[in-house]
Amino acid sequence: MSTDTTSPSVPARSPSSVRAGTGDPVPPADAPPPPAAGAAVVLDLRDVAFVRNGRTILEHVDLTVRAGEHWALVGPNGAGKSTILSLCGARDHPTRGEVDVLGSTLGRVDVQALHSMIGHVNPRHPLRTPLTIQEVVLTGITGTTEWRQRWEPTRAEVDRARALVTDMGLGGKEHEPWTTLSQGERGRTIIARALVADPALLLLDEPSTGLDVAAREQLLATIDAVRVTHPEVASVLVTHHLEELPTSTSHALLLAPGRVSAAGRADEVLTTEAVSRCFAHPVHVERRHGRWRASAGPGTA
Ligand SMILES: Nc1ncnc2c1ncn2[C@@H]1O[C@H](COP(=O)(O)OP(=O)(O)O)[C@@H](O)[C@H]1O
Ligand SMILES: [Mg+2]
Repeated sequence: MSTDTTSPSVPARSPSSVRAGTGDPVPPADAPPPPAAGAAVVLDLRDVAFVRNGRTILEHVDLTVRAGEHWALVGPNGAGKSTILSLCGARDHPTRGEVDVLGSTLGRVDVQALHSMIGHVNPRHPLRTPLTIQEVVLTGITGTTEWRQRWEPTRAEVDRARALVTDMGLGGKEHEPWTTLSQGERGRTIIARALVADPALLLLDEPSTGLDVAAREQLLATIDAVRVTHPEVASVLVTHHLEELPTSTSHALLLAPGRVSAAGRADEVLTTEAVSRCFAHPVHVERRHGRWRASAGPGTA
């Protein structure tokens, strides 16, 4: 039923390329094609609550992510975005409700097996030792921060790591130490690290935090490119700045503290009204050249 491939419920590319209500065309950019109707469900959160130390951090959260979709999780500081990401990454369990990750329900599955299928991009990657870029990427295979003792990658794994380093625009730097990289280079290295194990799901928690504008733009272009070269990989990206959303964002969930205030296709959710409601502050949202911008401005008084 829901897998009926003739169903018109997933629209073709064109409707999302025009801003609802304005008729302003949005350049297609290098956006990946939308996922096919009936694409596999990669993440399914059903009526999830998360309580810590007697405090309810999330309540009644629903989220379904399908293969090839690129979700933005947007909301104010402390709203619970990283907490949702830790559930999506099988790093935490819900207090109530159910979370399916890659077809398995948390609480009934070996989470180690899931972790190896999920690429987690943490811009505060806590590596302390001077591993080279290539070695950092290879730690994505062992799922460790440091180099695992007595582990040796195969020739194929080294080749794959090297190819990813090149894809990230870091070709020729694979033997440079992590400790000397710029923040932007580190960001691209940990994306390569997240991809090296060929994940089905990519989670990015504020990946452009702390970057200058050039490095941010380069990182966002990298994320857009990854989504074209790995079209089957679903992703969830957390941010509290609309300016930090890649053009390839297909869906968005607005999280007001602890609860979903809107969710669905990005162009229908990232509107002036919905974002103002979520942040409890009047902001004007616009989309130009595929990118979003939020500002105080005319019509927001
Ligand atoms: N392990 C924890 N124990 C207690 N409180 C937590 C824990 N993790 C997060 N919180 C609290 O939950 C709320 C949501 O946190 P978080 O998910 O990090 O928000 P966001 O990523 O949207 O900024 C915050 O108020 C935070 O202090
Ligand atoms: Mg956070």
